[in-house]
Amino acid sequence: MIKKIKLVNWKTHKNSELEFKKGTNVLVGKMGSGKTSVMNGICYALYGTFPELQRREAKSNNIIMQKPSQMDFAKVELDFEYNNNDYKIERTVFSDGKTNQAKLYKKEKLIAGPQVTQVTERLEKEIELNYELFSRAVYSEQNQIDFFLKLSPMQRKDKFDELLDLGKYEKARSHGVAVKNVLKKLTEEKEKFVKDLEKRINQKEIIETIERLEKTEKSIKEIAKQVEEKKANVSKTEKELTQLTEKGEKFKKLKNMKTAKKAVLEQLEKQIKTMQKEIEELKEKNLEKEQKKINQKIETILKEKKSVQKKVKESEKKVIGLEKQIVLNETIAKQEKEFLKHLNKAKHTCSVCESPLDSVKRKKILTQKNEKVETISEKIKELNEFSKKEKINAEKNEEFFEELETEEEKLEKELNEQENLFQKTAEKEKEIKELKKNLNTEEKEFTRIEKELKMLEFDEEKEKNLSKLFEREKEQVNSLKKDIELKKEIEKEIKEKIEIMKSEQKQLEEEAKDLKFFNKNHEDLSIFVNALKQVQSELRAQMIETTNQALDEIWKLVYPYKDFSSAKIEIVEGSYEMKVKNMKGEWIKIEGVLSGGERSAVAIAIRIAFSLVLARNIGWLILDEPTHNLDSYTVKKLSEMLREKLPKIVDQVFLITHDKELESASSASLYKMKREKNDEGTTKPVNLNS
Ligand SMILES: Nc1ncnc2c1ncn2[C@@H]1O[C@H](COP(=O)(O)OP(=O)(O)OP(=O)(O)O)[C@@H](O)[C@H]1O
Ligand SMILES: [Mg+2]
Repeated sequence: MIKKIKLVNWKTHKNSELEFKKGTNVLVGKMGSGKTSVMNGICYALYGTFPELQRREAKSNNIIMQKPSQMDFAKVELDFEYNNNDYKIERTVFSDGKTNQAKLYKKEKLIAGPQVTQVTERLEKEIELNYELFSRAVYSEQNQIDFFLKLSPMQRKDKFDELLDLGKYEKARSHGVAVKNVLKKLTEEKEKFVKDLEKRINQKEIIETIERLEKTEKSIKEIAKQVEEKKANVSKTEKELTQLTEKGEKFKKLKNMKTAKKAVLEQLEKQIKTMQKEIEELKEKNLEKEQKKINQKIETILKEKKSVQKKVKESEKKVIGLEKQIVLNETIAKQEKEFLKHLNKAKHTCSVCESPLDSVKRKKILTQKNEKVETISEKIKELNEFSKKEKINAEKNEEFFEELETEEEKLEKELNEQENLFQKTAEKEKEIKELKKNLNTEEKEFTRIEKELKMLEFDEEKEKNLSKLFEREKEQVNSLKKDIELKKEIEKEIKEKIEIMKSEQKQLEEEAKDLKFFNKNHEDLSIFVNALKQVQSELRAQMIETTNQALDEIWKLVYPYKDFSSAKIEIVEGSYEMKVKNMKGEWIKIEGVLSGGERSAVAIAIRIAFSLVLARNIGWLILDEPTHNLDSYTVKKLSEMLREKLPKIVDQVFLITHDKELESASSASLYKMKREKNDEGTTKPVNLNS
């Protein structure tokens, strides 16, 4: 039950508060006095919209009071009771730019808001009635009361289905059919695919391929066994070959050693030969004899040297003696010459002996003395010559002595050389001895090597053959291994092929399973679609029947004449015909038969029936100007019905009218909307009951 509505700045309502009760509440007032605005307010409070807004004939901005002065918000508060719970809704509409707000209270407790959609969703849940159903089954908008009559029979069916929510069955059914078709197509495709796959999968080929695989695997095993055997051979041969190669290497080494030793031996022998030849040559030179000869020569030279030396000394001695004599004679000659000098000077006496001199004596003495001087001079001359000769002699002998010495040196040198040769010969002999000793050792080593070589008994040919055998065997192993690899490749290919075949087989199984599933689904869906159709038509039939039952009852209350005893909706080939029962008991279509007023009666009856059938739980009915076209008798009857009968079947009715006659329909609140339209005044609701 709607208990109270408060409108603030709501169109012409500045601040209106209206209280309602169970039964028929009536709002009267002249045109434009703000009656419909109250109903719009109820609808807006509940769903945040009303039919005019929904059809976009008005904007929410238009709700806010514009005159006498422009307000920047409008507010509606609605108090109602449902299922023994008190609810309160507040919605505020702001002028452009600000988000509208809403709040929903249940038992004074906020349960949704301030988001408007959240409040609407919650409200719909709480009262189990959505806007669509409210606007069709509860709220008969002004001038829209004959909404269902104005529709074509086909549209009527759609609208009716919509209200009953039967559309969802149709939707589900048509979706089901679409899915069924898709499924059918898929099933057909799958069927074809499965058939193709079956054709492709050749069982015989699978068996043959598996056999081929087994054969290949067996062959690989056999070859692997052969490889193992051959490998054993190879390692045996390899071992032998290694031993032989080692022997061969030793052999080669020894052979090289032998060659080297031979070279050494030859070299040594050659050296010895050369040396021996050299010694022989030295010996041939008769060194000792030669030496003796040289020694003798040296001895002779030494003797000669002695005699020459003696001669030199004698000559020197002679020269000294001669020089002494010369000095003596020269002294004498000097004395004599002195005497002569004095004698020549002296006249009477001898200047030496002082004896008196006469001329003869003097002459005699003079002659004597001169002769003596001459003799001495002659002697000195002679002595000088002797001395000179002797000096020459001495010089000659000295030169000869030097020659002898040179000769001696030469001989000494020769002797030395001879001595060296001697020594050299001795050394060479020693060397030969050493070489011979070496030769002996090397010969012994050579013999040892030769012996060892013989003992080795290395067969080069055998090694070559064994090496060839080894290579051959290895080649065989490798070729077998390659064979295995090749076979393994084939094995892999076969396995892959088998895998593909198996997966194809598996796929076939799965696809076949799928196909079965698809077929079953398709079948199920067909059943489901049919069931939906059946449910839908049964529901529809049921609802129509129920509606018609209500319609039959209400018709009698609404329509006061006897020419048409009942009204109903009839399903004719999928569309809904509105029919009335004439006095002959025939059901006739209303179109083209019923007058405007009669049609209005049908419209009111349908509206009431719908509210009963479709919105029974809420128990509200709003009728805005329902009496259009009705005659005063009918209005009177309707008024009675609204006042006395309808409240028994609908909890709360809101009736809006400018028809004075209908004021008496009120069994609950009766409000008169007062407004000074000429002054652009605001609405003042006046409760006529109080
Ligand atoms: N935003 C607004 N501010 C002020 N007045 C408005 C606003 N919007 C509409 N009106 C006025 O409100 C009146 C409409 O109110 P309403 O539809 O409730 O009248 P009514 O009583 O139902 O009239 P009728 O009997 O003709 O249907 C009109 O006079 C209109 O000019
Ligand atoms: Mg109106």
